Amino acid sequence: MREYPSDRVDVRSDTVTQPTAAMRAVMEKAEVGDDVLGDDPTVNELQNRLAKMFGKEAALFVASGTMSNAIALRTHTVPGDEIICDKTAHIYKYEGGGYAALCGASISLVEGEGGLMTGAQVKSAIRKAEGSGSHYPDGTLVCVENTSNLGGGACYTQEALDEIAAVAKANGCATHIDGARIFNAAITTGVDVARMCRDYDSVSICLSKGLGAPVGSVLVGSQEFINKAHRWRKMFGGGWRQAGILASAALYTLDHHIDRLEEDHVRARKVAEAINAMDNFSVDMEAVQSNLVYVNCNIPAADVVTSLAEHGIDMFDLPYNRVRVAIHLHITDEDVERIIAAFAAQ
Ligand SMILES: Cc1ncc(COP(=O)(O)O)c(C=O)c1O
Repeated sequence: MREYPSDRVDVRSDTVTQPTAAMRAVMEKAEVGDDVLGDDPTVNELQNRLAKMFGKEAALFVASGTMSNAIALRTHTVPGDEIICDKTAHIYKYEGGGYAALCGASISLVEGEGGLMTGAQVKSAIRKAEGSGSHYPDGTLVCVENTSNLGGGACYTQEALDEIAAVAKANGCATHIDGARIFNAAITTGVDVARMCRDYDSVSICLSKGLGAPVGSVLVGSQEFINKAHRWRKMFGGGWRQAGILASAALYTLDHHIDRLEEDHVRARKVAEAINAMDNFSVDMEAVQSNLVYVNCNIPAADVVTSLAEHGIDMFDLPYNRVRVAIHLHITDEDVERIIAAFAAQ
């Protein structure tokens, strides 16, 4: 039974979850203070906890994944720098061109496979101003997304992550992980997040995706990095006051919603296998490693979305005639059956 009964199955994104009754209960009792002044004990607890969990010195609680990435990119770069990332990266495709508008940076795109880059690809994408007769921008930051959203929720192997970090370091680049779904990656690979991110300078962790908190992301890194990031958060208008109400829900999800991500992965796999066996659809099963299922349609994706909506299933249609099923906290086994039956009726 769903905690939030609804006649619709909303699989547009894993961001659509409602805070549960248990979350609302902890929010009601949360101790708060003025976080701009560093006084909010619950925000401080969340930051300390995630810094420790990720093996970093410090952390900063911010309003969204986009803000967390924007602050990280701005803290790592100066105007005229270049950021190296996969061609499908969220920071490139879906953050409003913040890298250009807020950082004055350009992007060197990597032709990764399924959203995942290799060390060799990253190496050949790094351009340095020095030695170019001032022709090139200065490649100073490598950004990795794990899991890769447009890569279908695929995860980097630890070897690949370590290799990319080593290449970046050897070429004078800082490293950032867009870990919007990093706990999904940890569940899939069985690698502890501190080990996973050991060689990276900063990590953005989203709390309001698979974990199901209502709002927020946390950026982790060295104390020096977070001190600078704190100033950029202020300049971006993200200094907030009694944010402990939100941090309390996030803390709740760290206690209760990490291990259960495995259930989302099992449901996603079930949906993917069933849909992949249908004539009108196919799924790259290798990419299905976490909670996302990208479905290639042999019929117009827009029509599929309209028809599925009539069956009570909400989805977006995407470029390349695809639709995505994002499994999350509120999706039950019955919902999975409903999704499969609705696709089968196409
Ligand atoms: C990989 C990735 N990074 C960053 C974000 C941005 O998060 P937000 O929507 O909280 O700004 C998203 C959002 O879906 C995402 O999928």
